[in-house]
Amino acid sequence: MAGADADGEGVLILAIETSCDETAAALVTDAGSVLSSVVSSQAGLHARYGGVVPEIASRRHLELVLPVVREALERADTSLGGVERVAVTQGPGLVGALLVGLSTAKAIAWAGGRPLVPVDHLEGHIAALYLEPDPLDPPFLCLLASGGHTLLLAVRERGASERLGTTLDDAAGEAFDKGARVLGLGYPGGAEIDRLAGDGDAEAFAFPVARVPGLDFSFSGLKTALLYTVRDLGERETERRRADLAASYQHAIVRALVARIREGVERTGLDRVAVVGGVAANSALREALPEGRFAPFDLCTDNAAMIASAARFGGAIPFPNYLGLDAYASIS
Ligand code: KG4
Ligand code: ZN
Repeated sequence: MAGADADGEGVLILAIETSCDETAAALVTDAGSVLSSVVSSQAGLHARYGGVVPEIASRRHLELVLPVVREALERADTSLGGVERVAVTQGPGLVGALLVGLSTAKAIAWAGGRPLVPVDHLEGHIAALYLEPDPLDPPFLCLLASGGHTLLLAVRERGASERLGTTLDDAAGEAFDKGARVLGLGYPGGAEIDRLAGDGDAEAFAFPVARVPGLDFSFSGLKTALLYTVRDLGERETERRRADLAASYQHAIVRALVARIREGVERTGLDRVAVVGGVAANSALREALPEGRFAPFDLCTDNAAMIASAARFGGAIPFPNYLGLDAYASIS
């Protein structure tokens, strides 16, 4: 691929994302074309602990961040000299992990005398919808469902959304991960459950999902219901019916998400629906919501192209005023 300027596509943005267990870098033009998006997942490293170990994640980011940036530049057929703006995830996420990306981005921006754009990770997930070749324009209703968050949002313009509902306990992705753990599947569990559920009967077990007031979500009871069912079935029967358990469990999560989305549509009058975040990769959810617009499959889970996309809409801090910038762990 030729450099962005050579194509007349404008400013070239380098983005770095290290909020959890994916080390990612991407080059995206100001117009929203993804020239490269490199994601190095540490999932294998954390699998034996059944979840992300923050200290291990930070150390691994430190090892991976420069090779990943280098590969993103190579794949986009450019060099640091061609980068006009640097974007980075500032939060929410694991602070130690975020600081690796933030320090790297500051150093690259400062060395080149470039501006730096700190990006909110959740805004990034939404901004995955704004990338070429098929960008979505607000207004729309958006479900953001990841490992750490489950938010129902009214997105009225780019970079500005109103929160309609959130989870009162576990996030939807967390429910997938915890369910997978109960079923003895690997980490991260969402994709594993998705795969296994393809061979199972979604109606085999009736798992209840708590109904909470308003447009909020609650998933912690579901995991307990699965735990009790598995206990009652015993080891051999659980093993034999694992696909049915996965399919029924997934069905319960999907049903809860779709019900809330449809209620959100009714309340807001927003008739276009979008789904972003890792759980947007789920095939049953995609099937159950044919009217929904889903982020491209490889841009659902954490990546840096979505961070670059968000950085197109403002928030740039001019050189060198960003050196004191800090990361933040949770949403305000
Ligand atoms: O957005 P993401 O990569 O990271 C966070 O910001 O949290 O989301 C990761 C979450 C994990 O909980 C993972 O199990 C879930 O997304 N996930 C899925 C699928 N692929 C990833 N959940 C259901 N079905 C999938 N196919
Ligand atoms: Zn994420």
